[in-house]
Amino acid sequence: MRSLGLGLPLASLLTGVALLFTAPAAHAADTPLRDLAAAQGKVVGTAVTGSKLTGTYGDITGAQFSSLTPGNAMKWESVEPTRGTFNWTEADQIVAFAQAHHQQVRGHTLVWHSQNPSWLTNGSWTSAQLGSLLQNHISTEVGRYKGKITAWDVVNEPFNEDGSYRSSIWYNGLGSGYIASALTWAHAADPDAKLYINDYNVEGVNAKSDALYNLVKSLKAQGVPIDGVGLQAHLILGQVPSTLQQNIQRFADLGVDVAITELDVRVQLPADATELAQQKSDFKSVVAACAAVTRCVNVTVWGFTDADSWVPSTFPGYGAATPYDENYQPKPAYYGIAEALGGSGSGGGTTPPPSGACTAAYGVSSQWDTGFTGQVTISCSGVSLASWKVNWTFGAGQRITQAWNATCTQSGTAVSCANASYNGAVPDGGSVTFGFNGSFSGSNPVPTVTLG
Ligand code: XIL
Repeated sequence: MRSLGLGLPLASLLTGVALLFTAPAAHAADTPLRDLAAAQGKVVGTAVTGSKLTGTYGDITGAQFSSLTPGNAMKWESVEPTRGTFNWTEADQIVAFAQAHHQQVRGHTLVWHSQNPSWLTNGSWTSAQLGSLLQNHISTEVGRYKGKITAWDVVNEPFNEDGSYRSSIWYNGLGSGYIASALTWAHAADPDAKLYINDYNVEGVNAKSDALYNLVKSLKAQGVPIDGVGLQAHLILGQVPSTLQQNIQRFADLGVDVAITELDVRVQLPADATELAQQKSDFKSVVAACAAVTRCVNVTVWGFTDADSWVPSTFPGYGAATPYDENYQPKPAYYGIAEALGGSGSGGGTTPPPSGACTAAYGVSSQWDTGFTGQVTISCSGVSLASWKVNWTFGAGQRITQAWNATCTQSGTAVSCANASYNGAVPDGGSVTFGFNGSFSGSNPVPTVTLG
């Protein structure tokens, strides 16, 4: 391979986190996501619709994923639309498919404010009646699938954005104790299933995730069976929280597992190539944050194809939120997942790949009220570097206070970091990382990094 000095014209091709190349269609030579994940000790999943599990949809589901979550089939309105009349058809079908394909199943979901049958929500119940309805529901459903479900989203979306408890049939009728009761009843019905609380907008450190953190801590202290937290991760393009990994780590440090349970990244339609490249980077950051924390056990996408996504009907004007397009062709986002799981990937933009390139990727690994720790990784493929320099602009007034494994200077908002004497060489297929501490006030957006 050529050694590429930074003075050569090709250096102008070497840009930062925005990744540049077209993703070819996935073919037999691509290592399936489930195998890449397994090599990292992780599980990669998708939400599915049972009736679609044939043909191409079934083939991709079986080949690429090691975990399935029924998108709707296990919700209360699906399994007991009329009181005492149960319909397990789709849920059974998904569980059978998973078993045939050696996949885990994440049960979703037992206690939620939404998608409950009208006989339940329109009924008028005493608190005792409500408690016994919930206990029966949990015992029946968890009991039916005992031994077949790896993890249950026992409680879904219990919090408001400010961290207070959400008003719901359960909270209003039973108080906040419904959460501990539900977990305890689920544990009795299947002691081997991992029991989760799942919510959205809890991916970064914020008031809502603080509330979830405090709840899990207090449940653990009381001996309530709680095994994990689910971070749904229904994200907007370009808005992966900078504190995602830090947040995953703090839950792990409480002694629970973490799963990314419903990942999608919605784009305002129509999505162009630049947006799909940004989406690749967003998927990659989320999966990389999970991969970096031992107790983050599963990343599940909420539908693997744009043909089976809840986004267009729920967020008008938005779509293209999943890793495969409507024709089941992998998008750049697919390769973002693969790369974060250690796969070779296949680029992600519009122009054909040159024979080789190096990229620089910026990340924040932890953040507190006025400071943060970040790192930049320079990776090369098809070429190598003998020395490097990385530049970016801190648009929100952040300041570098200390750097290691590089010499950094800052002038105004412009930051420039050059290799140390011992790490200028980046081999073909290799990478070099340097780190730094910084200060900020207000926001700490991720800059676009340029190599050259
Ligand atoms: C969504 C399904 O994907 C849709 O088909 C359905 O119409 C509404 O619910 N958070 C959750 C999921 O926990 O259960 C939701 O699934 C998406 C948001």
